[in-house]
Amino acid sequence: MQKISKIAVLTSGGDAPGMNPCIRAVVRTAIYNGLHVAGVRQGYQGLIDNNMYDMDPRSVSNILNLGGTILKTARCLPFRTDEGMETAYKNLKANGIDGLVVIGGDGTFTGALRFSKKYPDIAVIGVPGTIDNDLYGSTYTLGFDTATNTVIEAIDKIRDTADAHDRLFFIEVMGRDSGAIALRAGISCGAEAILLPERDTAIEHLIENLKAGQYNKKSSSIVIVAEGDKRGAYDLAEEVRKQVKFYDIKVTILGHLQRGGSPSAFDRILGSRLGFAAVNALIKGETQKMVGLEANHIKLTDLEEALTQHQFKLEEDLMEMSDILSI
Ligand code: F6P
Repeated sequence: MQKISKIAVLTSGGDAPGMNPCIRAVVRTAIYNGLHVAGVRQGYQGLIDNNMYDMDPRSVSNILNLGGTILKTARCLPFRTDEGMETAYKNLKANGIDGLVVIGGDGTFTGALRFSKKYPDIAVIGVPGTIDNDLYGSTYTLGFDTATNTVIEAIDKIRDTADAHDRLFFIEVMGRDSGAIALRAGISCGAEAILLPERDTAIEHLIENLKAGQYNKKSSSIVIVAEGDKRGAYDLAEEVRKQVKFYDIKVTILGHLQRGGSPSAFDRILGSRLGFAAVNALIKGETQKMVGLEANHIKLTDLEEALTQHQFKLEEDLMEMSDILSI
């Protein structure tokens, strides 16, 4: 078993609330166990640029409450090349690093797995950090809970003005190919319809639904559109406008505000648990694994499996329930 003496930690891809609590847990768990820790700035780009610094317990003081990531993040194309990986490897070796914790989504894990197969003497553990909640092997990813709460807060406010004006709003929310945020926010805000990439909703069906709502004396309506619905909120609104004359129709794209903000209690605890577990996994000699949370227990999943299974499945029962509760 390879003995680890110094690890590096980085955040990569889209930032997610909860990354900072996770970094804090990684740094403090490592130091508690006698390891040295380097923080890598700007994800894989920092490995290529040798942009890293030694971290101690005080370097992660008072960050539990901060959104974003103190290490900064990036989507790094050069790391996809053999040259980029080789430079990263040489820099890690030059800094005496033999273990790596990567916090990010599936793009981050794809890079981590390729790198680790090429250079197996650097052990790699992934932590699922993305608001999209789309990773196999963890019921929840870091940032999903906070982002969903942020979306709910925004939609509640839109509902106030929608109701005051008897309007219909199309609200587009993030999630890439996943409807996880859309579904939970839709249930929480009583959306009249939730358009998800995981199921087809024909425009005729949506219009019938809105007409039924008006017949049932609804004064305002909210349609949540997951960004993975390729029709997009603006085009959908345009189509509906042609046939629905009883509503004034507006569109709101929530955008990047969904990624910001102080992490929720859930994400602070999840980040702490996953960071703690990631370092303990490295100490036990694990590599090419993702730490996740399933049934409130930490679980290790092969990165390969996490990536090939890829899609986190949306719960059918929640989709069915949301349709019924919104009549
Ligand atoms: O993966 C997180 C996420 O916020 C997705 O929901 C969204 O599609 C994407 O990142 C946006 O990425 P960027 O900030 O690079 O435009």
